[in-house]
This record gives sequence, C-alpha cells and structure tokens, in this order.
Amino acid sequence: MKHLLIVYHSKSGSTGKMAEAVFQGTQHPDIDIDVRMRQAHEADIDDLLWANGLILGTPENFGYMSGMMKDFLERTFYPAEGKVEGLPYCIFISAANDGTGALSSLRRICSGYPFKEVQEPIISRGEITAELLAQCEEFGLFMAAGIESAIF
Ligand SMILES: Cc1cc2nc3c(=O)[nH]c(=O)nc-3n(C[C@H](O)[C@H](O)[C@H](O)COP(=O)(O)O)c2cc1C
Repeated sequence: MKHLLIVYHSKSGSTGKMAEAVFQGTQHPDIDIDVRMRQAHEADIDDLLWANGLILGTPENFGYMSGMMKDFLERTFYPAEGKVEGLPYCIFISAANDGTGALSSLRRICSGYPFKEVQEPIISRGEITAELLAQCEEFGLFMAAGIESAIF
C-alpha cells in the first residue's frame, strides 16, 4: 500500500482546519492508501522516508513559512539527502492577506531535497470558509488518487 504524509503547523487553528479537510479528502472509499497526519514539531525523518507523497501546510508568518515548518525541514534535510529525490508534494497555506512569502520560501527549500510539486498550491487569505474547506478536500483527494495510482 502507498503512503501519504501530511505535515502541518497551526498556531491559532486555521491551517489545522485546512489540514483536517485535506485529510478528509484523502479518505475516499475508493482509494486504498495509508495516510499519516503529523504536526510539524512531531514529524521526523522516519515519517518522511515512509512517505510516497507529501502534503505541507503552514501559516504565513512574517512573510515566511512558520518556524515549526522550517524546523521540520531543517531536521530532515540532511538525513533525507539522496533518499527522497522526486517525492511528489504539494502545499497549502493560511494567511491573513498574502501568503506568497510562505509559498516561495517553502518551494525554495523543497526544490533542494529535491521534491517534485505536483499540484497547484492552495492559499487561503482571511476567513476559513466552507468553500475553501471543500477545495481542501478536493486537494487531498487529488493527491491521494495520484499517489495510489503512481501517476506523479
Ligand atoms: C507572528 C505572525 C505573523 C504573521 N505574518 C503574516 C504575514 O506575513 N502575512 C500574512 O498574510 N499573514 C500573516 N499572519 C497571519 C496568519 O498567517 C494567519 O492568521 C493564519 O491564518 C494563521 O494560521 P493558524 O491559525 O493556522 O496559526 C501572521 C500571524 C502571526 C501570528
């Protein structure tokens, strides 16, 4: 069975709501895949090496990804060297009004592993709406389906 890892950080809950919806999307009855959801501070190299696909979720803080997400990447970068090349991944972001700094900083580091981005990111700006959560579910479903069928 294929493995999908969701790593996210959320301080005040918005990215957490998005992560929950992404996870729900991966739980489609027709898709047989093992999904692990981890907060960034608890995720480690074993989780990363277990994964056939990766979804990263972060708030934008000070025009960058969250410190906890950066910490996860700092802890895993060298241990993962040469072992995760081309790992399919995608990004979702919760921001107040921007999100582009979080996106570019994450992409830059992910290109160093190097992971392969396989889906357009979701950037939420402001309130978490039902429409956004539905979009997050589709985002999770797309990723799970792609990993299960190895189309990426
Ligand atoms: C310390 C701090 C810095 C922030 N910096 C930005 C920023 O640079 N750009 C932005 O759009 N939102 C910024 N925000 C707003 C958060 O990105 C936004 O509230 C987000 O939804 C929080 O996600 P969370 O509820 O998962 O923690 C900042 C919030 C905090 C607490």
